[in-house]
Amino acid sequence: MSELSVDHLLGIKYLNKADIELIFNTADHFKEVINRPIKKVPSLRDITIANLFFENSTRTKLSFELAEKRLSADVLNFSSAQSSVKKGETLIDTVNNILSMKVDMVVMRHPSPGAGVFLSKHVKASIINAGDGAHEHPTQALLDSFSIREKLGSVRGKKVVIVGDILHSRVALSNIYALQLQGAEVMVCGPKTLIPKFIDKLGVMVETNLRTALNWCDVANMLRVQNERMDVSYFPSTREYTQQFGVNKVLLDSLDKDIVIMHPGPINRGVEITSDVADSKQSIILDQVQNGVAVRMAVIYLLASKIKQ
Ligand code: CP
Repeated sequence: MSELSVDHLLGIKYLNKADIELIFNTADHFKEVINRPIKKVPSLRDITIANLFFENSTRTKLSFELAEKRLSADVLNFSSAQSSVKKGETLIDTVNNILSMKVDMVVMRHPSPGAGVFLSKHVKASIINAGDGAHEHPTQALLDSFSIREKLGSVRGKKVVIVGDILHSRVALSNIYALQLQGAEVMVCGPKTLIPKFIDKLGVMVETNLRTALNWCDVANMLRVQNERMDVSYFPSTREYTQQFGVNKVLLDSLDKDIVIMHPGPINRGVEITSDVADSKQSIILDQVQNGVAVRMAVIYLLASKIKQ
């Protein structure tokens, strides 16, 4: 197979195993390209991409922009905070106005779950979901799996625990889908209040003891507590959360084996992870960020190939 089964990247749940393999093989090539002295290829000289961010972002926004520029696409950046959205313009009007400037692809982060799916039904452009509320963050999950594959040789058969605020996390859901498609075993670990009630229906194991979870896994993906999505208190205090669900060096060194530590960012140092763990040899946090550019180049390139046909 040399093309994706989808015309948009709206979520991992719409992909199949062959799609992920194609994205990773293409990302391998782009990773080699971006490590050359000349990091740019002319592949998308005739493609215009709009990055629409209705929610804050550092890594995803910069990574998409860099990926697009490395592919020689023309890039438009839109941030809702400085836009006419503040004057009451709707999402579809905003996007259709941008598309009338001959835009081929839209990368969108939005606080509403399903915003990308909605848009894909109403506008003529290829849509990439850069995070929709607490729903999915597909390129994050792809770069996470790509980083596990790079570090451990493959994702298949690996044991991955996702630790922290699973309830409010789009990274968790996309990772669960992506890891399972590739044959990994997945566990979630966190306070009961931050684990969705029916998560076992997704075929993941649930553990509330962090030491047990870490002793089980090959990889721990540490998530931030998303205070901005909480209207009530889900645990007694940050100090108590850290005592039960934070990874520190003493805990890491006391395990039977060396596990790989991941974090999608932004990190709350001293809450879910201490600095000596985040900056340790076991951490691949900055590799994840670096791999994000190659993986996003692959996704954009493969979707753009379908537009050109
Ligand atoms: N990982 C991630 O989505 O980070 P940003 O919110 O900074 O884009």
